[in-house]
Amino acid sequence: MSDPVYQDGVLAHGTRGERERLRLLEQLNDPATVAVFEQLGVAADWHCVEAGAGHGSIARWLAARCPDGRVTATDLDTALLEASPVPANLTVARHDVTRDDFPAGSQDLVHARALLGHLPDPELALDRMAGWLRPGGWIVVEDPTYLPAAASPYPRFAELLEACQQLLARTHGTDHSWARRIPAAMARAGLTDVGMTIRVAVCGTDDTEDAFWRRCFAQATPGLIATGLMTAEQITAAVAHLDDPAFTDTAWMMVSCWGRRPA
Ligand SMILES: C[S@@+](CC[C@H](N)C(=O)[O-])C[C@H]1O[C@@H](n2cnc3c(N)ncnc32)[C@H](O)[C@@H]1O
Repeated sequence: MSDPVYQDGVLAHGTRGERERLRLLEQLNDPATVAVFEQLGVAADWHCVEAGAGHGSIARWLAARCPDGRVTATDLDTALLEASPVPANLTVARHDVTRDDFPAGSQDLVHARALLGHLPDPELALDRMAGWLRPGGWIVVEDPTYLPAAASPYPRFAELLEACQQLLARTHGTDHSWARRIPAAMARAGLTDVGMTIRVAVCGTDDTEDAFWRRCFAQATPGLIATGLMTAEQITAAVAHLDDPAFTDTAWMMVSCWGRRPA
């Protein structure tokens, strides 16, 4: 069986609502990503690759931070990146991270968020991306993972999160357990100074977080029903938790990891 194709799945850029979902993803996760970049000391003359750049907020942040350097934002589909004016030091490139390369040793920073977990072999992609780093350069990889569904006091909500993971595994080949393996994979790739931090997404108390999950569930609904993973009634009952003022639970955790090519 051939690997699932990202652009044919429920997260394809052309899917209704995907642009807004990516915008919310950025709003929720950019502060933690930028905090890691600040900690690493991203400098004005750095050359950076933002792989699987999506809507592009991080690529634009890097371009502003590196006025004497160069940032390349890549994606399978670059339409969202090109939808607003592109700064002079930002290059937008259609690029498949599983096949296309950058010159070895050419980058000070390579970043990928919510990308590698969707790929058929994330460890291979990490190895290849680490090869783009100059000696002393940093790679930052961020991916989400979930707490065990059985631990939730809201079984219907947990069942919906679980079903969405199964749908993504079928349509995109997504493996959300990958996130926990990133530091070990970085060490195996020969990277040093490996570190990790985690942002937990809390649902029920944050309008932006809830808006993001409502979008995820809306996009997943046709697939969940068509594959028999859930009925429309089960989905409605699970999503209704977000309208309950007493509801608070976690959805996923965004794991951020960094490592450095030895100098
Ligand atoms: C979930 S989105 C995350 C977007 C962005 N990194 C963020 O965190 O805001 C994943 C992005 O990776 C892109 N993508 C998926 N497979 C890819 C591949 N093989 N090569 C390059 N980009 C890919 C998708 O088109 C999409 O824009």
